[in-house]
Amino acid sequence: MKALVLSGGKGTRLRPLTFTCAKQLIPVANKPILGYVLDQVAATGIREVGVITAPETGQYVKDYVNNGSKWNITVTYIPQEPLGLAHAVKTARPFLSQDSFVMCLGDNVTGQGLGTFVEKFRREKLDALIILKEVDDPSNFGIAQLDENGNIIRLVEKPKSPMGNLAIIGTYVFSSKIHKAIERIKHSWRGELEITDAIQEMLNMGFKVKAEILKSWWLDTGKKDDILSANAKILDEYIQRDIKGTVIGGIVDGRVRVETDAKITNSTVRGPCIIGKGTLIENSFIGPYTSVGDNSQIINSNLQYCVILENVIIKDVEHLEDSLIGKNAKLTKNQRNRTVKLHIGDFSEVEL
Ligand code: TTP
Repeated sequence: MKALVLSGGKGTRLRPLTFTCAKQLIPVANKPILGYVLDQVAATGIREVGVITAPETGQYVKDYVNNGSKWNITVTYIPQEPLGLAHAVKTARPFLSQDSFVMCLGDNVTGQGLGTFVEKFRREKLDALIILKEVDDPSNFGIAQLDENGNIIRLVEKPKSPMGNLAIIGTYVFSSKIHKAIERIKHSWRGELEITDAIQEMLNMGFKVKAEILKSWWLDTGKKDDILSANAKILDEYIQRDIKGTVIGGIVDGRVRVETDAKITNSTVRGPCIIGKGTLIENSFIGPYTSVGDNSQIINSNLQYCVILENVIIKDVEHLEDSLIGKNAKLTKNQRNRTVKLHIGDFSEVEL
């Protein structure tokens, strides 16, 4: 069995960060989301991994994943114009050949590994296994309608009048029969080859398609608030107290990870949170569910529930909350007058 990890796409909802970074590389708890996905792939024992990349951000993905040795996998990069998830599978066909494969989205994380799904797929000799999760807003997702025995009746992409609330999440296992189905589907109204249509076509063709309901949490990190929720979830689940840097004065309370060469002076840091390598926290309050990237400086400021990337300077900011701040950004408050002065990139969002 192989794995196909989709790390292409346009990432329009995460601009401007996606102008200079692939969205799969935005860190939660200071580690790129794609890193968690590859951890889960590697844990299944699968060694041959195809990574789909987009023209604009492919190089960033390659720089991070490299030859895959960090995960003990071999990586084949597959460049793709972002024309849909089924189009990504079609583009990867030479790599996938006749093998079954696990497919994951590089910006989706769950609290459950892939092992049980791979096992079920093998044990029941399936052609497709899709993973479902209840959602509150079904018209934003591909939705599966099941009968009382849990068999799939039909699948609809972003239904206007939803026939249930079970969304198809970004984890799938397929046999090579998926390729036959993709050959038969047409582009959707949004010009994409939809994986939901391909799986519906597998059902129409009489292939063995089953669903499994995810027991754990699932986070699709496509938008700012999703990144903040994913960050909170991962900090909550995985961060242990570990102080490698120096703390001089103040309080570091609870599950806080302070990386090497970080320096906390005269500040309060309340976990769960993480302070990156070489970062300075001075005369500040860092509240729960905050990740501060490497080599940043937080001075005379209060922040909580934030994701701050690397090389950021935040100075004299009284209260910053629910915020995602990109690399090399500088946020300062002018103490003398109340005028707001901005120098921000295209597609930025500022709430004053
Ligand atoms: P989406 O979030 O659905 O699409 P997108 O990346 O284009 O984002 P936006 O809507 O903000 O413009 O994609 C889900 C995942 O699949 C994501 O990791 C990107 C990846 N993907 C591909 O690799 N190829 C594709 O053709 C598409 C559409 C997505």
